Amino acid sequence: MDKIIIQGGARLVGEVQTSGAKNAVLPLMAASLLVDGWTTITNVPGLKDIETFKKLLKHLGSEVEEVEGGVLKIRTASVTTPDAPYELVKTMRAAILVLGPLVARFKKARVSLPGGCAIGARPVNIHLAGLQKMGAEVGIEGGYVNVSAERLKGARIYMDTRTVTGTENLLLAAVYADGQTILENAALEPEVVCLADALNRMGAHITGAGTETITIEGVKELKAVQTAVIPDRIEAGTFMVASAMARGNVLIKDCPLDNLHAVAVKLREAGATVEQEAGGVRVIGDWPIRSVDVKTLPHPGFPTDMQAQIMAMMCISSGLSVITETIFENRFMHVSELKRMGADISIDGRSAVVKGARRLSGAPLMATDLRASASLILAGLVAEGLTEVSRIYHLDRGYERIEHKLKALGANIKRVKE
Ligand code: EPZ
Repeated sequence: MDKIIIQGGARLVGEVQTSGAKNAVLPLMAASLLVDGWTTITNVPGLKDIETFKKLLKHLGSEVEEVEGGVLKIRTASVTTPDAPYELVKTMRAAILVLGPLVARFKKARVSLPGGCAIGARPVNIHLAGLQKMGAEVGIEGGYVNVSAERLKGARIYMDTRTVTGTENLLLAAVYADGQTILENAALEPEVVCLADALNRMGAHITGAGTETITIEGVKELKAVQTAVIPDRIEAGTFMVASAMARGNVLIKDCPLDNLHAVAVKLREAGATVEQEAGGVRVIGDWPIRSVDVKTLPHPGFPTDMQAQIMAMMCISSGLSVITETIFENRFMHVSELKRMGADISIDGRSAVVKGARRLSGAPLMATDLRASASLILAGLVAEGLTEVSRIYHLDRGYERIEHKLKALGANIKRVKE
């Protein structure tokens, strides 16, 4: 396993290119199951989760070609085995997204229940309840969910919780359903909008994506299209925080500021400059950093996927900040590692109270989940001395060559074989 070693203290200066959004690519890959033709997806980042999803599609019977850097072509003429095995699903929960399209086009699917992960139980009850509402037979056996339907029928579905992949799964199921489907309390995330736009270009009739009510008129046929993936707002947000906390002056190219307004507001409150320029967003940071309170919420609220990163920044702020995680029940795994660097954090239920320290000190750390890994890297950038982050396979799931991008900005960072 690799680890990343950082000598803290460098200021970050320069330009960094935002890669395509992992959480937009995955549902687009699932959408390719809906059609017989060649689906093309461009601006695809080189990430472990995408490799895993490619394996899953090939297991199902799809042809998958990586035409050149960042261009993916997928064709599913038929599905040999409509089942997503545990060994693939357990490392990537987004595999649940094959459920909707498989049932919609091939009338049945057997998908391993994803199980929990470091940040929470991650149930899929809302996905399954929605499919049942559309007339599917849903059964759970041996850790797998079996779903079948001769033809799904449109339904009015209220989702108890704003769920991103739940909304995406039901969108993917509803496009071929008989009649109209209405998704209420739908997720507003930009990745949902990206999927809905692609489905409409394939011939679907979806309105309301990006609002809490999405309406889908079922159609009989869709055609394969080419889609360019939107920039990754969480990767861009991570670099915004990096520049703000490492006294940087960084232009983040293709940064989707409109989808990061809550993050920009908090960084400005903390004293950073965040300005839209031609081709990107410039973030300028300096010390002292003002403490800010943050509460994660569904989009357009402050993203839960940015909580660990802003916490790393608050560890070196000049006062007290309260960070509340309302989406996942166990998303403070980075706290104990940050405390090993001298951070002063106390957890009280869903909130963490962070008392800014003058400096953090480098330490050997262990990554536990994707965004926690990012927060440890950020803390290492500003800590005194050497920081080593192990188990960075978590990081590789969602960040493309992060050490190269940070090194190009002046960070003293390298990846070594453990
Ligand atoms: C998506 O996960 C993202 N993953 C996550 O990003 C992100 O953190 C999350 O949305 C929230 O924004 C992908 O898009 C592949 P949810 P998802 O369903 O869809 C509860 C990353 O770092 N819930 O929106 O799995 C759930 O427990 C990853 O890239 C149910 O109760 O999250 C949670 O509390 C991590 N029942 C809340 O909803 C369900 O059936 C939001 O989860 C589904 C969800």
